Amino acid sequence: MIVVTGATGNVGRALVERLAAAGQSVRAVSRDPEGAALPPGVEVTRLESVGLFERASKLFLHVQATGDGAGAVLDTARAAGVRHVVMLSSGIIQDGADETHPIHIRHARVEQLVRDSGMEWTFLRPNAFATNAFQWAPQIRRGDAVHGPFAGAASAPIHEDDIAAVAERALLDPGHEGVVHRLTGPEAMTNAEQIATIGRELGRELTYVETPVEEAEATLFPHMPRHMVRAMLKSFAATVGTRPEITSTVEKITGRPARAFAAWAEEHRADFAV
Ligand SMILES: NC(=O)c1ccc[n+]([C@@H]2O[C@H](COP(=O)([O-])OP(=O)(O)OC[C@H]3O[C@@H](n4cnc5c(N)ncnc54)[C@H](OP(=O)(O)O)[C@@H]3O)[C@@H](O)[C@H]2O)c1
Repeated sequence: MIVVTGATGNVGRALVERLAAAGQSVRAVSRDPEGAALPPGVEVTRLESVGLFERASKLFLHVQATGDGAGAVLDTARAAGVRHVVMLSSGIIQDGADETHPIHIRHARVEQLVRDSGMEWTFLRPNAFATNAFQWAPQIRRGDAVHGPFAGAASAPIHEDDIAAVAERALLDPGHEGVVHRLTGPEAMTNAEQIATIGRELGRELTYVETPVEEAEATLFPHMPRHMVRAMLKSFAATVGTRPEITSTVEKITGRPARAFAAWAEEHRADFAV
């Protein structure tokens, strides 16, 4: 039995679908089990359920979905006999990183809890997700101009199912214990290029209109604490005019190259269409 936290999210849903298709027993965790809409045969439960780890040997750990309770979840997993944790961490953790960055602090803390848990672990450290482009969907539905900071901010966006494909292998195959996998998409893309790519997919000419960073500080990611938004803007600014890290880890582990952003945009066309 494999327990998957964050199971209704971008990566978790893709992972649950993969594991279910591979005939694995999966227990998915959601705050809303009734609304989770996961494949038939997948057990869906809450994080607080007694018996969450009954018969489980592996855990996919999602930081946001376990929150401050990650330590307790790991203690319960270990006591119930779970042997291996595959954690969705973040590429922000690397040599020379700004360890005061809130996203670094949040992921490094949970990585340490996992290391200290005594269970085997694998850390997936992806950089920017292609799904971050969903932030522009409301603007794209309204018109052809997308306003935001740093038109030239560069990343190598990764398809959520490529992360899930690596997680699947790390959960099912031997040899991933004690290993860190740095994951990226296959090519550098600026914000402006991502918008143009989505536009081509929609048959529209979309333009990224750069706005002052102060404006973004006030309005970007309204659900996020402002200090975190400020830290993120600082890291976006640092990527302008640079070449992002690009790894071949997805291909090495899954045997298939990581998908380009254009392929992601084609698959998610409906999410941006009016
Ligand atoms: N975005 C990036 O560029 C990036 C880069 C590197 C690493 N990451 C990591 O990847 C994670 C995002 O993965 P994702 O896109 O697959 O996740 P997601 O889709 O944003 O969320 C996954 C699931 O977690 C649950 N969840 C979300 N917020 C929660 C909260 N506050 N409390 C409890 N449960 C919550 C929700 O499930 P229910 O509603 O069903 O409970 C949600 O469907 C980040 O947390 C970060 O750790 C992201």
